[in-house]
Amino acid sequence: MKAVTCTAPVNIAVIKYWGKRDTDLILPTNSSISVTLSQDILHSKTTISTSPEFSQDRLWLNGIEEDITKNKRMHNCFRETRAIRKEMEEKAELAGSPIEKLSTYPVHVCSENNFPTAAGLASSASGLAALVYTLSQLYELTISTSELSRIARQGSGSACRSLFGGFVAWEMGQKKDGSDSLAVQIAPETHWPELEALICVVSDAKKGTSSTAGMQSTIKTSPLMNERINHVVPARMEQMTKAILDKDFQSFAELTMRDSNQFHAVCLDTYPPIFYLNDTSRAIMQLIHEYNATSQDGKLKAAYTYDAGPNAVIYAPKENMAEIIQLIGHYFPSNKESTAFFADPYQVVNG
Ligand code: DP6
Repeated sequence: MKAVTCTAPVNIAVIKYWGKRDTDLILPTNSSISVTLSQDILHSKTTISTSPEFSQDRLWLNGIEEDITKNKRMHNCFRETRAIRKEMEEKAELAGSPIEKLSTYPVHVCSENNFPTAAGLASSASGLAALVYTLSQLYELTISTSELSRIARQGSGSACRSLFGGFVAWEMGQKKDGSDSLAVQIAPETHWPELEALICVVSDAKKGTSSTAGMQSTIKTSPLMNERINHVVPARMEQMTKAILDKDFQSFAELTMRDSNQFHAVCLDTYPPIFYLNDTSRAIMQLIHEYNATSQDGKLKAAYTYDAGPNAVIYAPKENMAEIIQLIGHYFPSNKESTAFFADPYQVVNG
């Protein structure tokens, strides 16, 4: 038996991925950019074992066995990594130094998150990234991280960005087979250590509309989405890349908030509309704008962003974080009895 364990981090997009041009290969309708958060606080941990003695592929998620036969996306990741391993096995055989035919054995996968899955954080991104990375280590694949991201993408779109630390772009690509739809690192985690992220858990309820279903409904029904895909995001990709490389928090913060707002605007423009934000999410947005308005020199001090759920992620320079945590604690005291209010926020440094 051979077994390998690896972890993968969560990433939070600052230019959002929303919409697929191919739902099987998971090819997006626009490029996106994210920041990978520190693994110390949030990560998915996956152990994969393989043996000729195993009778079938099996999967345990947070200790509970799931029916893997229904998980097409996971199968795609198995198929792709096994195909590369098989090629290696065939080459080794031809060269006269055969290697173990691991590609023919079933696998047992055990995956868990070190944060509550119910908190509505990006668990599919870290989970699928951990799966693909662990498979690559198990099979000793010698492919680049971007090439591996092409496989993780087929598990969950946002997972391709979690294979890199730091600041990451998922280039949408143009090809029909998806071979150019890959993640690339814009800058490593050491590039901008002053930037921090604060995750505020507003609600731990499971989201009503899954991202997978929601984004296709937006594609079909939202006229605003055309403007976003064709004009807004292409310009923002360039501006955001520059802001990150220049460590320009002003541009980074404004683009981050505008892009989160437009993502939720296209959700509202979807018919019937999709609501991910709640009153607390909107109150936090307002608080951050009011906090920014108190700035002496007119410079932004913090930025919010929201994925497909009500939980806020606040990006800010380290020097402002203590003040922000105090403000949020003041206006939104933790109230464990009310689901509308905060659990204790995590403080997360990118990396
Ligand atoms: C709002 O990656 O979860 O978080 O590809 O269908 O698995 P699938 O969707 P998923 O969508 C994430 C959407 C988002 C924005 C983002 O992370 O870029």
